Amino acid sequence: MQRYVILISGRGSNMESLLDGGLPGVCAAVISNRPDAAGLALAAARGIATVTVDHRGFASREDFDAALAAEIDRHSPDLILLAGFMRILGEAFVRRFEGRLLNIHPSLLPAFPGIGTHVRALAAGVRLHGCSVHFVTTALDGGPIVAQAAVPVQTGDDEACLAARVLAEEHTLYPRAARWFLEGRLQLLDGRARLADEALVSGSLHVPQTA
Ligand code: GAR
Repeated sequence: MQRYVILISGRGSNMESLLDGGLPGVCAAVISNRPDAAGLALAAARGIATVTVDHRGFASREDFDAALAAEIDRHSPDLILLAGFMRILGEAFVRRFEGRLLNIHPSLLPAFPGIGTHVRALAAGVRLHGCSVHFVTTALDGGPIVAQAAVPVQTGDDEACLAARVLAEEHTLYPRAARWFLEGRLQLLDGRARLADEALVSGSLHVPQTA
């Protein structure tokens, strides 16, 4: 049985969609960098082991990364899923887990890396926005894209309603991509996300219905 761990920093709704998604694997632990992350209680309520590695307790980013990596290794995961994990991970960490680190980001990458994606999408006036699942590399939100879901930006949208529209897609897209990885049908190869067959390629893009 494949093993995965989920890294969170807050609410944990993507974590819940992964835990409730019937993935072909065991969630060995949910790890947070914040002790007050609401997602920790949601995971514990499902009987999942929870751990906090509080970044504020470390003198440097490297020390935090090393402690986090050691905690992850204790669970021997095949896959590490960043689900609203809001810390930038350093090169040594990323290299150690390269090829088994996935992230979900609330924009159609490479547009709007970083934070505040919905506000920036509204300010830019884009008509399409969305979310991306990607392998994590040393480039911030810049790793090879696995799957994307697009949503329309509608007249009168504010940050909250656009974020909610995107989040609903995140909750479908991330479990789908995680499943592909755990089934051995998705891998990082030569710097690209490789999907096993054409059916997955068409499943890796969600576009909205247009009237
Ligand atoms: C999600 O929208 C996720 O895509 C985003 O944080 C939110 C976490 O919500 N992640 C990032 O911005 C990473 N750069 P959640 O805790 O309810 O899953």
